[in-house]
Amino acid sequence: MIVNFFAFKLIVIIALSSFNEVQTLNILGVFPLPAKSHFFVFAPYLKELANRGHNVTVISFYPQKDPIPNYHDINLSDNSQPPQISHPVTKSLFVIFLSLTLLQALAGPFTCRMLLEDENVQNLWATQTKFDLVVVEQFNSDCGLALAHILGAPVIGITSHTLMPWHYSRFGVPYNPSYVTFDFFEGGPHPTFLQRILRTIIYNHVNFVFYHVTHRLEQNIIGEFFNDVPPLIELAKDIKLVLVYQNFMLSGSTIMPSNIIEVGGYHVAKVKPLPDELRKFIEDSEHGVIYISFGTLLKASTIRPDTLQEIINALEELPQRVIWKWNKQSLPGNPKNIYLAKWLPQNDILAHPKVLAFYSHCGLLGTTEAIYHGVPIVGMPIYGDQPTNAAAIEESGLGVQLHYVLLTKDYLLEKFKTVLDPK
Ligand SMILES: *[C@@H]1O[C@H](CO)[C@@H](O)[C@H](O)[C@H]1NC(C)=O
Ligand SMILES: *[C@@H]1O[C@H](CO)[C@@H](O)[C@H](O)[C@H]1NC(C)=O
Repeated sequence: MIVNFFAFKLIVIIALSSFNEVQTLNILGVFPLPAKSHFFVFAPYLKELANRGHNVTVISFYPQKDPIPNYHDINLSDNSQPPQISHPVTKSLFVIFLSLTLLQALAGPFTCRMLLEDENVQNLWATQTKFDLVVVEQFNSDCGLALAHILGAPVIGITSHTLMPWHYSRFGVPYNPSYVTFDFFEGGPHPTFLQRILRTIIYNHVNFVFYHVTHRLEQNIIGEFFNDVPPLIELAKDIKLVLVYQNFMLSGSTIMPSNIIEVGGYHVAKVKPLPDELRKFIEDSEHGVIYISFGTLLKASTIRPDTLQEIINALEELPQRVIWKWNKQSLPGNPKNIYLAKWLPQNDILAHPKVLAFYSHCGLLGTTEAIYHGVPIVGMPIYGDQPTNAAAIEESGLGVQLHYVLLTKDYLLEKFKTVLDPK
């Protein structure tokens, strides 16, 4: 009995002392897509991993300007020039169809090659660096999975948007066009009959392109660097966990396996004080402020001149001041009461109580920030996940949406009237 008790104490002491040692991981992040708005979502996650003591190495086009402890960059722009991805403001179905196809068939394999040709990336497998975990963006390329396979590490997937149509089957998520939203096309969780038909056609098209064109091209590129990498589709099925940047409040409730985790909303940062000039502009306004931004990928200055004039005319009739993220020096006619800048602290602006409405393209980040701060949205979606977000915003009463092709001064004023209504 006494011996048993002694043995028990010994086991407890050994167990406790082994808990003392905190295990941190060696983590690799693979983000070869040159799209800043995607990386905006991943950066807070990667920084937090480093902050918690993990050793994080990040392959991307967006290295940190100031060094962060435990955070190491592999700067892809050292060896390759990222293509400038920006999208003209147009809503033609043909353009969407084409750009979606090219995004998979061309841009996917292109980023694959940039990734594997990078000297510092090659160095990782040449020196057989040991990683405990590889975090790979799930978008238009699966090359990162091959890299993780070569490095012999398990994979966590992460997205900066809702699941892409070609992700459903590999993660075992049922796709049903009657309630699962589909980025790139209109309609939220309650689509019309026509939207369901369109979803079904495009779902099959993009799945075909991704698995028969993108994967084949990428597998060939991978073959130039390594022997014996299993088919990417098999590697994809072996992803342990996926963090999906969506929230059922916007994208509707769907059936998901327990390793697909919705993380939408975590990127919203603590509010910082506004620069003096901007703060004064907002606080001196008698009737509040409307904030306008069409994001980083959309070139706002490619808006048709007559449409732009309609927008300006509408803004001039409103008593509110306007802050507009605009990538040119000026607007036609130099309207007053409009504050223009190429870059703006969006989250801090939206947090200001005098900011009454957000005129937006409905990108996921801005939309999430506006919802967080309770600012109603006038959505003018163009492409990507924007139409889906806009539909969801309207369905849930968080704002209204308008159709870019129909835009006139009165139409826009009517939408602003709805969201500026104090109710
Ligand atoms: C952390 O990562 C860097 C860059 O990949 C590497 O040079 C370093 O050896 C790693 N540190 C540890 C303790 O594994
Ligand atoms: C990344 O590489 C580009 C191109 O060589 C360079 O201009 C940039 O300063 C680098 N960024 C960092 C943080 O080292």
